[in-house]
Amino acid sequence: MEPFVLANGLELPPVGFGTYKAAQGDDVGVLRAAIEVGYRYFDTASFYGTEGALGRAIRESGVPREEFFLATKLWKDEMGYENAKQACENSLKRLGVDQVDLYLIHWPRPDLVSDWRTLDRETWRALEELYYDGYTRAIGVSNFLPHHLENLGEEARIFPMVDQLEFHPGYPQIEAVEFCQRCDVLPQAWSPLGRMRMLSDPLLAGIAAAHGVTGAQVCLRYALQKGVMPLPKSSDPTRMAQNLDVFGFALTDDEVNALDAMPQTGWSGEHPDRDRTLV
Ligand code: A2P
Repeated sequence: MEPFVLANGLELPPVGFGTYKAAQGDDVGVLRAAIEVGYRYFDTASFYGTEGALGRAIRESGVPREEFFLATKLWKDEMGYENAKQACENSLKRLGVDQVDLYLIHWPRPDLVSDWRTLDRETWRALEELYYDGYTRAIGVSNFLPHHLENLGEEARIFPMVDQLEFHPGYPQIEAVEFCQRCDVLPQAWSPLGRMRMLSDPLLAGIAAAHGVTGAQVCLRYALQKGVMPLPKSSDPTRMAQNLDVFGFALTDDEVNALDAMPQTGWSGEHPDRDRTLV
């Protein structure tokens, strides 16, 4: 299991765990199970409402904090220089840690904000300072397309180290992924299984059968072979373990190319440049 390496040298395990909807209130059962199964990279966000439960599950696990990699994000209403600083402080408090490993801007443009360019740059300036001040070991973005990244690049002292995108067969965002890779930005996949919307697709099912694995494992392997770090979610320990067990087979180039060319399937309907109410 080769780690992914960020532009600043930080190493990330090849598969992380997505925590969206993974906990409600004080219920840390799913997160505890994920730690027991072996996940050490956890992706959360202030919007998910899972930071508190994640922090508790980690403290109660008995596994040292430094063995975990914690990534969180500021939400659309936390953008702007001052807000971003405060948002990070709030996230650290909820997680119960002094430092996170990765801090991200969740979306490039809050709905209906016309001057998103200035807002993004001001927010990014705060993230750079949070990095220099040691509140986070890496900084990045989520759902940024090339033009959003280029906008940050015009004033940035540090270019984003990570860009977390919706990515799965049927929605591989090839242009955005290749742009990231040219700029030494690690692309991560949110919804790498397409929320199961395309697992019955005959192409995917055929590839899975040929390798004696599941469609979910094919999706994760596809991400890894494209140089994209997948962040699958599951509430079931057997499926959690299956999603880590993706290093015993490899897709052929033809299979990867066929998945690249799959018609759009399973898209969430979320687009960074569109008002969600219009989707
Ligand atoms: P469950 O929690 O019952 O396992 P994504 O990560 O693309 O958003 O997809 C998450 C969805 O995929 C969840 O509904 C989860 O359901 C399901 N899922 C996760 N892992 C697997 C797997 N290995 N096989 C089938 N479904 C899975």
